[in-house]
Amino acid sequence: MTTYHFPRGFLWGTATASHQVEGNNTNNNWYRWEQDGKTKHHSGLACDWWGGRWREDMDRAVETGQNAHRFSIEWSRIQPEPDRWDEDALEKYRAMARGMVERGITPMVTLHHFTDPFWLYERCGWEKEETVALFEKYVRKVVEALKEYVNLWTTINEPNIYSLSGYVSGDFPACNKGLAVAVRVLANLLRGHAAAYHVIHQIQPEARVGYALHYRPMVPANSWSPLDRLMRNIQYSGVNLAFPTGISTGVIRTPLGKISIPQARGTQDFLGLNYYSVDTVKFDLTKAKEMFGKRFYPADSDFSATKFIANIPEGLYQSIEWIAKTYPDLPILITENGVEDPADAMRPRYLAQHLHQAWRAVNYGFPVKGYFHWSLVDNFEWERGWTQRFGLWGLEVETQARIRRPSVDFYAAICKENGISRAMVEQYAPEVLEKIFPNVTP
Ligand code: BGC
Repeated sequence: MTTYHFPRGFLWGTATASHQVEGNNTNNNWYRWEQDGKTKHHSGLACDWWGGRWREDMDRAVETGQNAHRFSIEWSRIQPEPDRWDEDALEKYRAMARGMVERGITPMVTLHHFTDPFWLYERCGWEKEETVALFEKYVRKVVEALKEYVNLWTTINEPNIYSLSGYVSGDFPACNKGLAVAVRVLANLLRGHAAAYHVIHQIQPEARVGYALHYRPMVPANSWSPLDRLMRNIQYSGVNLAFPTGISTGVIRTPLGKISIPQARGTQDFLGLNYYSVDTVKFDLTKAKEMFGKRFYPADSDFSATKFIANIPEGLYQSIEWIAKTYPDLPILITENGVEDPADAMRPRYLAQHLHQAWRAVNYGFPVKGYFHWSLVDNFEWERGWTQRFGLWGLEVETQARIRRPSVDFYAAICKENGISRAMVEQYAPEVLEKIFPNVTP
């Protein structure tokens, strides 16, 4: 076989998030976090989508064969103050969604991607259960405005990362800290997700609603070590399982006890998978804050530019397999996958190898329906600022110039073919040709 094809109707796109691309986002908790010097750089103008450059970037997406795009709505723009809705901002998002539809791009909207309005943050946001009702109101407002163009919704992006990075590791803004607060936040996010799921279906019965899970497969550093295995299991369930279990059973299980959220049961029409890499876990007495489990990549890994990611494509297959076994028949969308790589030295092989694994999963019968690469253009990487470049296109922050990396053409060829061929891999990622198309004599 010289081409691995994907099923007809497969969604091929990229993913972005409001604060990372819009620019001039000055009314949310991340803006304050940046002003307080907690990030490497400021988001500034970002990719200037709020200034209108989403249009040229969508033109780029469509010209290079993409048929879908996942983007997020900035709550602080829609509701700048607790008692004020900004209709102009809503109109701008309507224009964005319409612009995508007009270009033949299926829009997928994320309603919450890490940022909170500043007024909400001042009230300690998701630490309080009252935020659930506020989120529901905001969701209602957005869905009413966008329903004409959008029926694919991600409620919350990576609730596990939001809660761990803010309330445990302290990389993200958080009012109070500690494991107990993190658990409370996660429970409220699940309540918020459930409320959003129900309200979206009320307004738009045909909608498809899910959330995006950052799923990290984990392996013990030494499989013979009971302590490494124990640490692996603790970390694995802490990072990966609380939210998904909450959705399948209506109960969140945490080291601090169970929390019952029955309204969350079954609230997903698909699972959004954000997959980047696999962690190795080792028992480490010095890591009290991480409950004595050190997470790392082995020294001989295929590392990305800043060693943020180890290229472990089999982990994508394992993640999909885990989802399919946990939720039989539930459609799966790969809502994020990518690598930081300014020189585009690893991205082509990362892309080729991960899509090969996605293809294997599809061929095994797992219901993978789409792939959204992170990201379209370099964008603001949270606490890491502009030090990491995830875009197919590069961005010169000062001039707003876009730089076409070779991966643009590679991904375009894949999207247009609805598959990945031997010739493409030979051209763009020859170093992994034998791994992807083994034993094929030309
Ligand atoms: C987040 C993105 C982020 C990406 C790369 C994901 O966890 O959803 O916002 O840019 O990782 O770091």
